[in-house]
Amino acid sequence: MNRVIRSLRPYPMEELNRIKASLKKRGIKIYDFGTGDPKEPTDPKIRQALIDAVPEVSQYPSVAGKKELREAVAKWFLNRFGISLDPETQIIPSNGSKEAIFHFPLVFIDTDIPEKNRVIFGTPAYPVYERGTLYAGGRPVPVPLKEEDRFLLRLDKLPKSILEETKIVWINYPHNPTGATATKSYLEDVYSICREYDIILCSDECYTEIYFDEKPPSALEVGTEGVVVFHSLSKRSGLTGYRTGFVAGDEKLIAQYKKGRASFGVATPDFIQSAAAVAWSDEKHVKERREIFRKKREIFIQLFDRLGLKYLYPEATFYFWVKSPAGMSGEEYAKHLLNYGIVVSPGVNFCAGIEVLENRCSSEYFRIALVPTVEECIEASKIWEKAHKDI
Ligand SMILES: Cc1ncc(COP(=O)(O)O)c(C=O)c1O
Repeated sequence: MNRVIRSLRPYPMEELNRIKASLKKRGIKIYDFGTGDPKEPTDPKIRQALIDAVPEVSQYPSVAGKKELREAVAKWFLNRFGISLDPETQIIPSNGSKEAIFHFPLVFIDTDIPEKNRVIFGTPAYPVYERGTLYAGGRPVPVPLKEEDRFLLRLDKLPKSILEETKIVWINYPHNPTGATATKSYLEDVYSICREYDIILCSDECYTEIYFDEKPPSALEVGTEGVVVFHSLSKRSGLTGYRTGFVAGDEKLIAQYKKGRASFGVATPDFIQSAAAVAWSDEKHVKERREIFRKKREIFIQLFDRLGLKYLYPEATFYFWVKSPAGMSGEEYAKHLLNYGIVVSPGVNFCAGIEVLENRCSSEYFRIALVPTVEECIEASKIWEKAHKDI
């Protein structure tokens, strides 16, 4: 087995899953706020576009993707961020953003140049930044994100020596798991440090469309040189099962990435691309989704305020990053809630593997994903209130 797979830490949810299975057996209703995969139905016109695109004869799709999709993406990007992208040279469709994020360092880390193979990302984090780095033979640099920095990755606070050895920086705003957002001026600061140290700035932007007030910016608004952004229809349009997104940015990097991707076998099926083109061309269903998440968000703002639980006010994403009651870790609180059928993700799930190995991982936080329906959220909030009072 590849040594990277052997070295991956055990799945942190294992014990929680065991308890979950035993609750199910006892017939206790489960409210799963654990994984970020909402259950709202896919918009009928997207489903129809998929059905209509299934051909009689289906042949291999190309890595470059369909022109129709790249043009729809370019149009969306211009309307949404005011940035003009060339659909021929600056956009590649991907099978959701996970695979694209995972594969990126495989193309850009040169293991023969150990003095430029570090990959920086903030923690708590989506785990793929670290895993992609490890598989590519790069050196992960997890940087703890602090509440006093509003969970922004502060490159300006890192030693020069680390930045000099860094090839890639990952940022992810709006952020999973904290729900933190970044301003354009923050992105400008990150961009200028990346340019100074010749670092590729990778911005995972899959939550930019789940906002409640201000529209979150894209890193491409502050510059294109050395910048690559990752977008997805999973969260924006609820298409997690379709596996569709795109990668866009610096023309030179996109050309190199396209070349690398030809080896991976990840070209998106044409009928998925046709459905995706319809999804990027419509804002109505996205607005409706935002309103649903707004309702769910309100239920939990009220609950947490009633219970006196502290959380980062989520201006975007469908997550809440909540501090456990005094004296309890996120894991302890999550286990307590589980006895009542409520599943949340303890903060330690979002530590980097290397932080766990080196005992640098503990968390008083837990994350909830607003996945159950509005009705289920109302039911769960009542049960949660009782569970909290039983501590
Ligand atoms: C921060 C972040 N990036 C990327 C992804 C991957 O999403 P997908 O591959 O469905 O586009 C997720 C999924 O939860 C995520 O939370």
